[in-house]
Amino acid sequence: MSITIVTMEITSADPVTAIKQRIATREARIGIIGMGYVGLPLALLFSDESFQVTGFDIAEDKVRTLNAGSSYIVRILSSEIEKARASGFRATTDYSEIANMDAVIICVPTPLNDHKEPDLSYVKGTVESIAPFVHPNQLIVLESTTYPGTTEEIVVPALEAGNPHGLKVSRTLEQSGIHVVFSPEREDPGNDIVQRQDIPKVIGGCGPAAVELASELYGAIFNRVVPVSSPAVAEMTKLLENIYRCVNIALVNELKQLCMRMGIDIHEVIEAAKTKPFGYQAFYPGPGLGGHCIPIDPFYLSWKAREFDFRTRFIELAGGINTDMPYFVIDQIASALNERSKSLKGSRILVLGLAYKRDIDDLRESPSLTIIELLREKGALVSYNDPYFPTVGRGRHYDLNMTCTPLEDLGKYDAVVIVTDHTSYDYKAIVSESQLVIDTRNATKGIQAGNILRC
Ligand SMILES: NC(=O)c1ccc[n+]([C@@H]2O[C@H](COP(=O)([O-])OP(=O)(O)OC[C@H]3O[C@@H](n4cnc5c(N)ncnc54)[C@H](O)[C@@H]3O)[C@@H](O)[C@H]2O)c1
Repeated sequence: MSITIVTMEITSADPVTAIKQRIATREARIGIIGMGYVGLPLALLFSDESFQVTGFDIAEDKVRTLNAGSSYIVRILSSEIEKARASGFRATTDYSEIANMDAVIICVPTPLNDHKEPDLSYVKGTVESIAPFVHPNQLIVLESTTYPGTTEEIVVPALEAGNPHGLKVSRTLEQSGIHVVFSPEREDPGNDIVQRQDIPKVIGGCGPAAVELASELYGAIFNRVVPVSSPAVAEMTKLLENIYRCVNIALVNELKQLCMRMGIDIHEVIEAAKTKPFGYQAFYPGPGLGGHCIPIDPFYLSWKAREFDFRTRFIELAGGINTDMPYFVIDQIASALNERSKSLKGSRILVLGLAYKRDIDDLRESPSLTIIELLREKGALVSYNDPYFPTVGRGRHYDLNMTCTPLEDLGKYDAVVIVTDHTSYDYKAIVSESQLVIDTRNATKGIQAGNILRC
């Protein structure tokens, strides 16, 4: 009996399956727009998984630095950039290269303007810039935090209006077109306990093929993907997470102030409450909110809620309490100096820590900036120390123009204020050498001394 073997060339008629195969075989080319705190680590994760990654940024200096194999983010080593470059990673400012990408992930800033309203100019600018280069079956993902509705109301119309082929966004499995997804970034800078790939990735697509493609793509680097029914659900999920943090931080910040009046140590209370094995999650008081997320994101929702004639009262209340915290710290410093027959005016004050949280090199929205400005306004002579910032100049909301002071001769300051509890500081030595320590982070926990005010 003769056997006839029929061989067939496998041609993939279904373009979505073809792209999934390209992802599985790592032939897929990935473009990441915005080489900042979110986009650059993401690019490195994909590169580690053997994808060809191109980083896009409008900042030419960042592109030059990356292409020279160097890093501008402290916790990312140049050796990691070098390693990625050896696997094909490169950066560019040239949007025409979007045409060569199978998937494009947008990680650009979403700040607030001076009136605390969403500033979506970076997202709009990016989408308008890439629209001329998108092609059928390309996956476009927005990761930037934003209000529910952004993907459908801003990204989709700009992509459809701006591409020269009249492409539409795919809404059904049968319809080819551009595949659009919102998938929020959930990074926690400085958190070494949870690995980035262990953070589940929420995915909300404009159509089923978009969700399939994004699940395949993110499934290559994250251990779990969580598909949801729409981009708006994914957008709202991110805001719920951050509003939850914002409200709970405001709650402990308020309770801290009450506890201080009552002579109770809020930190001891939190440690005791934490022993409850259900129904309680610990949040910690501090000198005020910082970072790109918690002080900003909730207001994206407050703004959008107005369109629906709705007031987000929890967000406003929490925002008010948290915004007042740096002012509370100033009051505490003033009364501690007053106890020593000194005034803020003319006192020498050293602020420890500029970063918005411990062990990171990010000072966006940091309460230290507000505290320094308020102290200066009151006539204090302010210095700072932060191992991550040799100098601090001018930003969107501050103009300090200061240089880092060495951590020595602490006795010459009327007060040393711990605003960021970097782990490199020797708090015992700081307390023993200083006249007065104002500790806004419980960094001096366990140190017994009469010159500490914990607030
Ligand atoms: N940093 C975090 O920990 C964090 C966590 C979760 C979510 N997010 C969100 O992720 C987004 C990005 O945040 P980030 O911290 O990475 O910001 P970032 O400022 O560190 O980086 C943004 C990058 O985008 C670049 N950029 C701006 N406009 C551009 C354009 N039109 N084209 C190309 N590049 C452009 C900037 O030059 C910068 O390098 C924001 O929406 C933020 O809310 C941030």
